[in-house]
Amino acid sequence: MNTVNVAIVGATGAVGTKILEKLLERKFPAKSIKLLASKRSEGIEISAHGQKFIVEETVPESFDGIDIAFFSAGGNISKMFASEAVARGAVVIDNTSAFRMVEDIPLVVPEVNPKSLANHKGIIANPNCSTIQMVTALEPIREKLGLKRVIVSTYQAVSGAGVEAIEELENQSNQFETRATNEAALLPTGAGERFYPIAFNAIPQIDAFDSSGYTLEELKMINETKKIFENKDLHVSATCVRIPVVSGHSESIYFEIDTEGTTVEDLKKLLENAPGIVLQDDPAQQSYPMPLFAEGVDDVFVGRIRKDPDHPTGFHMWVVTDNLLKGAALNSVQIAEHLI
Ligand code: A2P
Repeated sequence: MNTVNVAIVGATGAVGTKILEKLLERKFPAKSIKLLASKRSEGIEISAHGQKFIVEETVPESFDGIDIAFFSAGGNISKMFASEAVARGAVVIDNTSAFRMVEDIPLVVPEVNPKSLANHKGIIANPNCSTIQMVTALEPIREKLGLKRVIVSTYQAVSGAGVEAIEELENQSNQFETRATNEAALLPTGAGERFYPIAFNAIPQIDAFDSSGYTLEELKMINETKKIFENKDLHVSATCVRIPVVSGHSESIYFEIDTEGTTVEDLKKLLENAPGIVLQDDPAQQSYPMPLFAEGVDDVFVGRIRKDPDHPTGFHMWVVTDNLLKGAALNSVQIAEHLI
């Protein structure tokens, strides 16, 4: 059933290259795959799974005849071209934050709210990477036991900031003696005036600050979680931190459920059988999720589940996944699979 013409906007980027890989690896029924990027990349050859593709510049006509267009080239490019693609007949699956909080645009994690896809009007938003792994891990618990409150601290990999951020980490990593003064040009955010080295560091800022004192990344986690769970009254708070890991976001999640008397074993049973989740929780064997070993793997890993000592319905868990895969490319491709 090779019936779908596909385009990837941002095909040379950290997420775009993974979207291509996932489409090919999962044998997505594509009749054609068009790789789009900026004019700078026009003519570049990209090989994946034994197939060769030539990158084209993104222009409005690029979307003629396209059925599904994946966007991962930054919010401005999505705002510039997404409606154009829809007008030319494509369904857009957007990886940026451009449309996530627009009321009638579905924000979708297939394991959590696939039904919301039915209401799309041409654009479907892929949530923020940190939100995806958190809601995937919380959903089996929320569904059976209810959810009142979530407090999350993230430990996020540099690949979330694009290929240049990975290069910056690599360059700084072999400059140990000068680690506090190493040249930094990208992180925490291009929107700011100061840049800090990421190697040997932890930066408690991802994206710009809002007047509330939260960063935009933290607000994304808060607002997107409420939208996906369709619960404006859910209490959610977040602290997002960039750490010197290439790929794989980690999250320490505190949550309060509705149901008293729940045990850690009850939660483990729910997570063990949940789609997309691997339970890795055996303290006696020092077994728990770590980003170094989640890189390149599709699953969301959950471990360190324990009860809060002082709150009757409070628990903690540690959740890790590859931010470029389930956090971005894989989730987008799963959305496309649901569509067709
Ligand atoms: P290019 O490589 O031509 O600059 P990342 O976030 O990993 O750095 O990737 C960003 C992606 O967005 C790249 O594929 C990049 O292409 C693409 N991009 C940047 N500017 C544009 C543009 N004006 N039109 C289309 N794609 C763009």
